[in-house]
Amino acid sequence: MDNPIGIFDSGVGGTSIWKEIKRVLPNENTIYLADSANAPYGSKSKEEILQLSIKNTEFLLQENCKLIVVACNTATTNAIDHLRKKYPIPFIGIEPAIKPAALHTKTGKVGILATKGTLSSSLFHSTSRIHAGGIEVYEQEGKGLVELIEAGNQDSKETKRLLLEYVKPMLNAGIDCLVLGCTHYPYLIPTLKKILPKTIQIIDSGYAVAMQTKNVLKENRQLRAENFNSNHSFYTNKDVGLLNPFVGSNVQTQYLDF
Ligand code: SIN
Repeated sequence: MDNPIGIFDSGVGGTSIWKEIKRVLPNENTIYLADSANAPYGSKSKEEILQLSIKNTEFLLQENCKLIVVACNTATTNAIDHLRKKYPIPFIGIEPAIKPAALHTKTGKVGILATKGTLSSSLFHSTSRIHAGGIEVYEQEGKGLVELIEAGNQDSKETKRLLLEYVKPMLNAGIDCLVLGCTHYPYLIPTLKKILPKTIQIIDSGYAVAMQTKNVLKENRQLRAENFNSNHSFYTNKDVGLLNPFVGSNVQTQYLDF
């Protein structure tokens, strides 16, 4: 029960999920692995994403994680089926929040911003077909955004320029919900709020993933008892100074030659 929850991502973006997990499960220990040296995953082949996901998983298993959150939409859509078959612990993946968007939209038109690797995956297409129902989904690749966030440039001129370019066709199409289909993108919300009309609802998956993690731990009787201090470890194979601002200044990130 005291074993940690493992979380991995291609970089800093999955910390948006870690924050929700920490909020929903304050007693749990966590280990976060940022594979920033290999970011972005979104432009890699399925086989490359699979091999990187296996490597990340094996590191977290060595650390005795009781459950692994694949806090990366691209790794989830391309590798989670394989990971679930290969390893004996539960895996929680990140699906773009098409379902809540479909329930919320009034125009019947929803936009999704995600990586090429997510948008081209068969898992994304099958789940969005199931959840979208009768609504129209407008897909947009967020090319270049992960790299800007990894470099800490979430609110730069270039970021704003790209976001404007990406949301314009979806706004012209009449969307009223924008789904963030990449765990890096919640860090763009302040910038998106400056450029989107107030009527557009921005939806991400963080809370749903944290709740799903809690439910699975509960079902498996692996929830940690209350009133314990929790421990959070962070590892990155790139510059530790890039991860720290995403997780808090009092946190020690460790470099991992990986
Ligand atoms: C990426 O590494 O390209 C993005 C990760 C994600 O899809 O969440």
